[in-house]
Amino acid sequence: MNTALQKIREAAEAKIAESGNQEALEEIRVAILGKKGELTQILKGMKDLSPEERPKVGQQVNEVRAVLEDALQKKKQELKHALLTERLKRETIDVTLPGVRALRGHRHPNQIALEDLERVFIGMGYEVVEGPEVEYDRYNFELLNIPANHPAKDEQDTFYITKDILLRTQTSSVQARIMEKGKLPIKIISPGRVFRSDEVDATHSPSFHQVEGLVVGEGVTMADLKGTLDQFATSFFGPETKTKLRPHHFPFTEPSAEVDVTCFKCGGKGCSVCKGSGWIEILGCGMVHPHVLEMCGIDPEVYSGFAFGIGLERVALLKYEIDDMRLLYENDVRFLGQF
Ligand code: DAH
Repeated sequence: MNTALQKIREAAEAKIAESGNQEALEEIRVAILGKKGELTQILKGMKDLSPEERPKVGQQVNEVRAVLEDALQKKKQELKHALLTERLKRETIDVTLPGVRALRGHRHPNQIALEDLERVFIGMGYEVVEGPEVEYDRYNFELLNIPANHPAKDEQDTFYITKDILLRTQTSSVQARIMEKGKLPIKIISPGRVFRSDEVDATHSPSFHQVEGLVVGEGVTMADLKGTLDQFATSFFGPETKTKLRPHHFPFTEPSAEVDVTCFKCGGKGCSVCKGSGWIEILGCGMVHPHVLEMCGIDPEVYSGFAFGIGLERVALLKYEIDDMRLLYENDVRFLGQF
């Protein structure tokens, strides 16, 4: 073979073998096979050869071209393959590695307690209704037997919007709203936020939650109230729980009582949760005052009813053995994550 051709071929083969990427390969192809490439130059120089030599050299050039094209093609495939292998190696997924857990939120302990509580009452046929947090004095106080100069107004000092509009101090306001509608019988609970002008401490907050209960119909007695509260206490705190009604005074019920349950922690023996007494106070209740029924347009000669008001935070704190109400509102996920 023509020595010049031979040299071109060997040099090209060496370069192809050494090339490390597609761009380098393309440069080699242009330098040898391109319009101004080395092989093309030889073809152009054929006019200076003798007529006998021309076909021979022509054939040799074609052979070298075919060999180099083949070599380029092979190298191209090789590089492509190497690139893919490298990428696959980099992108392998080790399915045995521990996964990265997505952080999931969950219900607030107050909300868990509320849903537990609602389930118990819905099971007894109660309807869940809501009332406004910004309320008229009329519903929050007046229709509940707390007229303008009543001392109970001092105990429940709140935030006034105007003289007649305030942030409700108790969910009992919903009692008056529901009774006033005049649809009987009534069997509702009404959970919601209430407000009082209180300083923050372990058991007080200017904003907390209550769940009101109201039943009005013909022949509703205090025995129904007691039975209902017993059912609630055993379902919510556990089957061994006993209730005790202590006489008390609320302006809108007569008679009225505060209700204690046996301590779910010690069963009544006395411990740190119940402060040694064996009993824990959880709510206020009573028979709806006839005057309240009357003011709300219900005939107390025909109808009677009972009502109760549960402090939601109170039962949540007790149930989960939390000793400071502030923890419920600080929204520290290290604390909230435990429930
Ligand atoms: N509203 C009362 C309070 O905030 C609690 C209460 C007591 C509600 C007796 C009632 C009830 O429905 O009958 O202290």
